[in-house]
Amino acid sequence: MADADRVADLERTIAAQQRTIEALMDAVEQRDLASTPSAFAVWHQHAALADVVERKTRRLRAALDEIRGLHESLTAKTAELEAKRDEAAMLALVARHMESAVLICDAGGCVEWANESFTVQTGHTFAEAVGRRAVDLLLSPEAADEVNARIQARTDRAEAFSVEALSTAKDGRCYPVELDVRPVVSDEGAVWRVVAILRDISARKEAEARLAQAERLESIGELAAGVAHEINTPMQYIGDNLTFLRRAVEVGHPLFALLSDPAVDWAKAAEIVTERHFRFVFDRAPGAIDQALEGVAAVSKIVAAMRAFSRVGSGDAKTLTDVNACVETALTFSRSEWRYVAEVETRLAPDLPLIEADGGAINQVILNLIVNAAQAIRGGARGDASGTITVTTSHDRDAGHVVLEVGDDGPGIPPGIIGRVFDPFFTTKQVGEGTGQGLALAQSIVVKRHGGSIDVSSIPEHATLFTVRLPIESGDSGETTA
Ligand SMILES: Nc1ncnc2c1ncn2[C@@H]1O[C@H](COP(=O)(O)OP(=O)(O)OP(=O)(O)O)[C@@H](O)[C@H]1O
Ligand SMILES: [Mg+2]
Repeated sequence: MADADRVADLERTIAAQQRTIEALMDAVEQRDLASTPSAFAVWHQHAALADVVERKTRRLRAALDEIRGLHESLTAKTAELEAKRDEAAMLALVARHMESAVLICDAGGCVEWANESFTVQTGHTFAEAVGRRAVDLLLSPEAADEVNARIQARTDRAEAFSVEALSTAKDGRCYPVELDVRPVVSDEGAVWRVVAILRDISARKEAEARLAQAERLESIGELAAGVAHEINTPMQYIGDNLTFLRRAVEVGHPLFALLSDPAVDWAKAAEIVTERHFRFVFDRAPGAIDQALEGVAAVSKIVAAMRAFSRVGSGDAKTLTDVNACVETALTFSRSEWRYVAEVETRLAPDLPLIEADGGAINQVILNLIVNAAQAIRGGARGDASGTITVTTSHDRDAGHVVLEVGDDGPGIPPGIIGRVFDPFFTTKQVGEGTGQGLALAQSIVVKRHGGSIDVSSIPEHATLFTVRLPIESGDSGETTA
């Protein structure tokens, strides 16, 4: 029977008993109690009965109040549970239909629950995943241990965080993912579950690579006129020397024709040698060839630098990179920017270790710093008078990083703005000369992509020094703390 029916039933019983009591009392009162002892006895009996009934009624009323209270709290609890059930159903709906894979793991990282996207993304069914360590299922063995150590360290402190890693699907396909790890803490303060959200970030990575590529191509475009000029000079002397060598061949031709005749006319041959400055031409021919070859080498170097800048696919991949070679490339590429305003002094450490980096992006950082230094010297008080740009590399094995410094003796940076130079779009240059993106991009490449640091110090009116530190081993550069 429902609670409400039971309450109504009790109320009816109480009302019926009250009516009985009242009827009895009426009946008793209508007799002469003093004259009939038997009537008195009846009255007495009835009075006692009425007393009992009244006590019972009181108890029943108290029980009824208690039941009413229970019923009310039961109704409230039911409503609360229903709301919780609705919320749980909604959350399950969200988790089930989320594009990202959602995993609920125990404190040790073993899968307890996974949504459908998990199967779509990884190819593993829930039955295959349950009970297994999530990192073993999703990452390569080397990455799994490393990422797991990080997860463990953070979950022990109940810290939520995100990590980027390469995941391997069941079919062997490798793709970049972002893993959000959120430890869930019990009322006692211990981690009892870990919620992991796995996002496929291939599209984002591709877009970033395309953007990086576009940025590189943009700076090639901006420097194209200067590069064309750089190529033009060696091309000119390659052309001059080839013209000279063609003349040498033309000069030698009649002589060779004469000498190949069995009856050599030596007098004629001697005449040709003298008239056509034969000795002069042939003395200078090797020099002309050397100069032409030098020109070819110079053009090849510029072309190699251009290729290093426009390299396809360098937007993301990190390979072993020689920072000294990046300096050479950036200097070659930016030669037209600095050659008329500054001497460049390089002090490149001969034993510099290779670093795990995106070489194209590092070229870009160095180029931006060198171009800024040249532009600062050109815009400084000395005007076009020659300044000095110093590029130094070194390394700190204990700290595990390579250090690159680009210094100049230009006008320096006033204290009032030095804190803003890395801000995107901050520029002190004329419209059309600078967009204020060079240092923001350099900072993003160094700090975000490579986990390094970039700092600036300056003595106003005298000098500026940018210091870049790049880790030798890349680690996981994509990590962000949530
Ligand atoms: N070596 C330097 N000497 C003096 N000031 C500098 C130097 N390098 C950067 N700055 C200052 O920092 C500002 C920001 O530099 P950033 O490279 O980000 O942008 P930009 O050079 O103005 O424009 P862009 O690089 O987009 O062409 C510059 O406008 C300049 O005021
Ligand atoms: Mg700049």
